[in-house]
Amino acid sequence: MVTTQQKPKTPVAKQLNVQVNGIGVGCAADARVLDAIRTAGFDVPTLCYDERLDPQGTCRMCLVDVTVDGKPAQVAACTAFASDGMAVETHSDEITEYRKTVLEMLLSETSSPANCPKCISFKKCELHEAVEEYGAKWDAFPPLVPREKVDDGNPFIQRDYDLCISCFRCTNICNDWEQVGAITVEGRGQESTIASFFENDLMKSPCTFCGQCINTCPTGALTDKKIVGKTKAEKLERTKTICPYCGVGCGIHLLTQDGELMGTEPDFDSPSRGSLCVKGQFASWEFVKSEERLKYPLIKENGAFRRASWDEALDLVTSRLTAIRDETGPDSIVCWSSARTVTEANYLMQKFTRIGIGTNNIDNCSRT
Ligand code: SF4
Ligand code: SF4
Ligand code: FES
Repeated sequence: MVTTQQKPKTPVAKQLNVQVNGIGVGCAADARVLDAIRTAGFDVPTLCYDERLDPQGTCRMCLVDVTVDGKPAQVAACTAFASDGMAVETHSDEITEYRKTVLEMLLSETSSPANCPKCISFKKCELHEAVEEYGAKWDAFPPLVPREKVDDGNPFIQRDYDLCISCFRCTNICNDWEQVGAITVEGRGQESTIASFFENDLMKSPCTFCGQCINTCPTGALTDKKIVGKTKAEKLERTKTICPYCGVGCGIHLLTQDGELMGTEPDFDSPSRGSLCVKGQFASWEFVKSEERLKYPLIKENGAFRRASWDEALDLVTSRLTAIRDETGPDSIVCWSSARTVTEANYLMQKFTRIGIGTNNIDNCSRT
């Protein structure tokens, strides 16, 4: 017989204590060294890392000095797990010089930073941000053979592989996050390139034009074709909002320049974690500017629409719905709500249908 009340067994997450550049932080038992570094408020370049994917540990830019049980080592912060009592140093002279050399080798694979379309039109790309931070020189090593630019005529993605550093974030995001597998690595070593199936033509491939490869690419190799060249990074403003296209509500940033809407970028801090569909990525801002957009009520008379006031339009709708309900009963009316509006508006629509009109004939266009 149990005579005392037993405490519920709630698992207590093990905490690791890690020192980063002399600052102590607590981390979860499964934390990587990179988590500890960022928790402590420091950072290192992570050119092959996207937090939504398993780390690859290939670019070696995140190499840091660690000491565990008095033994020194150098580890890739994105792949190595933290351990209790570990000391991490992120910017020793040796590591800083090493990162500069790696960056200069990467730069020898690419065209000049001065030509980077991402830096010019959007914001400093991750590669060139690191290049600036470490003072790496573009011409420190002899340049490799320029890689191919691909113009397959698709309307959304500009592909300039002369800026590619073979980090493979694009293929991994397409395969592992989007589960599409439209692009792959072709060739080996220095000759490897990113290609899509079916004649390297994205329009013929399974690509859904979600834009994730553009958004994870740390260089200017992949950019939004609709905007690139039309905007200037230093003038571009970002406004956090929700995609207006459907009721899912993915997080986006609207891009504006001089008060004009220019495009969108995903909001990685939203619950959708940067994922968008082709409409959210490439079209959700365009219909706002459409000349065909409905901006005021229209009433159809003798086969043609004329502009009306809201009062006139609402009075007409009220009198017609009331007349139909009185003549043939509430079930002769059906209301359709919209997947493009918010949950609250859909809720009000069903209330209006059920309570206001008196029928259960309410449905949603996303079921069609
Ligand atoms: S746009 Fe999306 S589906 Fe197409 S290649 Fe890029 S990640 Fe893959
Ligand atoms: S295109 Fe961009 S994301 Fe893809 S491998 Fe090259 S640099 Fe990396
Ligand atoms: S980010 Fe760690 S190895 Fe590339």
